[in-house]
Amino acid sequence: MNKIYITTPIYYVNDVPHIGHAYTTVAADVLARYYKKRLGEENVFFLTGTDEHGAKIAEAATKAGKEPKQFVDDLVPRFQEAWKNLNIEYSEFFRTTIPQHEKLVQDFVLRLKDKGYIEKRRYEGLYCVGCERFLKESELIDGMCPDHKRKPVLQTEENYFFLLSKLANQLLEKIESGELQIGPETRKNEVVAKIKLGLEDVSISRAAVEWGVRFPGDESQTIYVWIDALLNYWTATKIYNKESFWPADLHLMAKDILWFHAVIWPAMLIAGGEELPRKVFAHGFFTINGQKMSKSLGNVIDPNEVADRFGADAVRYALLREFPFGEDGDISVEKIAVRYSELANGLGNLLQRTLSMINRFQVQVEKKNLSPNDYISLAKKPVSFKELGLEGKVGSHLEVLEAFLPELMFDGALVLLMKIASECDDYLSKKEPWKMAKTNLDAAGQVLNDVYNVLLLVADIAEPFMPETSEKMKKQLETLQPEPLFPRLD
Ligand code: MSP
Repeated sequence: MNKIYITTPIYYVNDVPHIGHAYTTVAADVLARYYKKRLGEENVFFLTGTDEHGAKIAEAATKAGKEPKQFVDDLVPRFQEAWKNLNIEYSEFFRTTIPQHEKLVQDFVLRLKDKGYIEKRRYEGLYCVGCERFLKESELIDGMCPDHKRKPVLQTEENYFFLLSKLANQLLEKIESGELQIGPETRKNEVVAKIKLGLEDVSISRAAVEWGVRFPGDESQTIYVWIDALLNYWTATKIYNKESFWPADLHLMAKDILWFHAVIWPAMLIAGGEELPRKVFAHGFFTINGQKMSKSLGNVIDPNEVADRFGADAVRYALLREFPFGEDGDISVEKIAVRYSELANGLGNLLQRTLSMINRFQVQVEKKNLSPNDYISLAKKPVSFKELGLEGKVGSHLEVLEAFLPELMFDGALVLLMKIASECDDYLSKKEPWKMAKTNLDAAGQVLNDVYNVLLLVADIAEPFMPETSEKMKKQLETLQPEPLFPRLD
């Protein structure tokens, strides 16, 4: 692989950016930063953005007393600011209301029509505006949408249908051959089982929804918001002259929208004669202190607030360290605070302690450009890499990251990082260079030099996860001027 294209979902612009959105975006950013190191900046395309059409947004605009376009324009900066506060370095910020996108979406829909994958039909169904989709009777609880706790509305319309049913076999074949990878494995199995039960055609236009891309050749309808949204991944490559990045290498999202990404989206691409994304990966869902995150419960975590309080890096660390990517998990402000202390005690103290002894004993540091394998023999504790099955395989910090990141094992890389730091602590406690210095300054200097070099390695491994911290560490290791990495909080 010499270039990579990574995406997050485009988030509904009327949602207030919350920690769930941040989770996907941080994960994508860590990957993008790693690949930028590995492949070069210009070979990474990392796309995020906002989803701005559809009944839900039109409804919210009306409530706010604004024209839809003005309404969405006013909201986009909330996402951009949140991502800035979390140190997200996206390549482009996509908006479904950019005119080039609308035109490309129409072209694509026309293409599906020309190839015989679109048909006009009468349709009656229960539509949930919250989900922006038709629900089946069997999905309702007490007649209501279980996710949005509102009654879906009966809609009878003539709509255009995408003939998804025709594509089931081709899609299965692509999944089973591995051409289209779906992860994690358990979710892939669920998707495959469901496809095997047969696929229903999907309505891809709305007569009742004004705020959307006009259906080509029929002014009375707009294109269903999900079709418009999914196409962002493809239209972006054309709009930003990134054609060579197509097809996407990795679509990241939570499990709530895996079906759209693993079934409807690839089926659209097969029908349109485009290459399929290589991998679609759904991570789990967050609860907050064990409860579903919701406005009504008032437990929504604002990423800006926690970034302000703990710093972007500690939030990034906390999110990805808390539970394995792909599983469901729980987060809370208290848990972020605990992770902050873990960083302060584990990384911050070690750096301060080491640098102050280096200064006190006037150690001449000598950079060694350590490899993790050197680190093993150095600490005389051949545990971590061996236990992880990495011994001998990792010759550089990039190889440590390579062992975890392509598999999306963010937590594994972070556990290892902190383990290396804690082994340095143990090493210092065992060798006691402060005592050694009284009788043998050279030997004390040697020990401190060892730890110094492991810290350089740690700073490198930390870089994609905690870019600011990594930079601060490197600067302090350069200047030998210790400063708290994670200062005590009030
Ligand atoms: N606009 C659509 C996506 C279109 S993509 C072509 C949409 N937007 S959304 O704003 O609802 O964002 C959904 C995504 O937000 C999830 O897939 C996930 O990435 C993130 N999360 C939202 N809530 C979350 C949790 N509680 N936990 C983890 N991630 C969550 O769906």
